[in-house]
Amino acid sequence: MMHISGPEFTAAISNAGALGIMASAMFDSQESFRQAVLQVRSATDQPFGVNLSLFPALRPIDNALYVDVILEEGVPVVETSGHRPPADLLARLKAGGVKVMHKCVSVRHAMSAQRIGVDAVTIFGSEGGGHIGEFGISTLVSVPRAVDVLNIPVLAAGGIADGRGLLAALALGAEGVTLGTRLLLTRECPIHENLKQALMQATELDTLPILGSLHNTLRAWKNAAAIRVAKLEAESADPMEILSVVAGIATKQMLSNGNVDAGVLACGQAVGLIDQVEPVADVITRMVTQAVEIADRIARKGTLYGDVHQTQSSI
Ligand SMILES: Cc1cc2nc3c(=O)[nH]c(=O)nc-3n(C[C@H](O)[C@H](O)[C@H](O)COP(=O)(O)O)c2cc1C
Repeated sequence: MMHISGPEFTAAISNAGALGIMASAMFDSQESFRQAVLQVRSATDQPFGVNLSLFPALRPIDNALYVDVILEEGVPVVETSGHRPPADLLARLKAGGVKVMHKCVSVRHAMSAQRIGVDAVTIFGSEGGGHIGEFGISTLVSVPRAVDVLNIPVLAAGGIADGRGLLAALALGAEGVTLGTRLLLTRECPIHENLKQALMQATELDTLPILGSLHNTLRAWKNAAAIRVAKLEAESADPMEILSVVAGIATKQMLSNGNVDAGVLACGQAVGLIDQVEPVADVITRMVTQAVEIADRIARKGTLYGDVHQTQSSI
């Protein structure tokens, strides 16, 4: 999560038993990225990953520089998102033994990622927060579709915030889930308290897909900045004016100064499922416990149903 998933938060997530993924695009030099990787290392002995952004960006990103560090410092997992990873970048990562998972929003993109040799894909449904693409296909449909046609592991992202969502994703055939919105409301998440309080009040109705006019749809929290973008798009405003509202610097400032309407923040519909700020370890532990309890309950119901069925047929 750009401007959010720095070294401390990444390590906290890995220490909680999940796989923390640091956003490389937050670091504007190879050396600052290397220091961040070393900082994660010193704060956790658990595996962690790095995201390489392949989205179009106002500030050009040279991912090859991040890959140097990933290989030199032995980062075990890379998540790519946005466009398909370039062949040379993927080849370098694979030759270095790095597991690569590609996040995408359609089955077609997932198939093409599989074809070029990624190890896993994350299918990102349209209820999620962030760049959900132009297809508008929900997690409930896109994950089983991907599972049916791929032979590499599939992770589910979009709309998952508790054990019910985790278990549902596993039932759809996913091997695991990717969380974004839920992690915003954790104690360790380095965003201003004002934002956490405002997001806690938000419901599933308080997100807005914006930037469709630029073919780069982003599901955002419906604050004044997102509403302004939607209005500019409806008026067919100059793309540069639209981009000035979504500029990363405004978001970065909002995250640290707590002026909740100053910038655009990615946010998924699952924000409506979250009503407390907790340590990330509690979120992850409860999610897993709840999924196990529900699976158990369903299994017991299944047996009961089987028993009833048997009794009826023997009558
Ligand atoms: C605040 C925020 C920032 C995000 N930033 C990025 C990003 O920089 N790159 C990326 O690939 N995905 C980003 N995402 C998407 C998440 O990695 C994840 O795929 C998504 O949040 C899952 O859906 P959910 O929000 O319903 O959990 C972001 C999501 C949020 C909520």
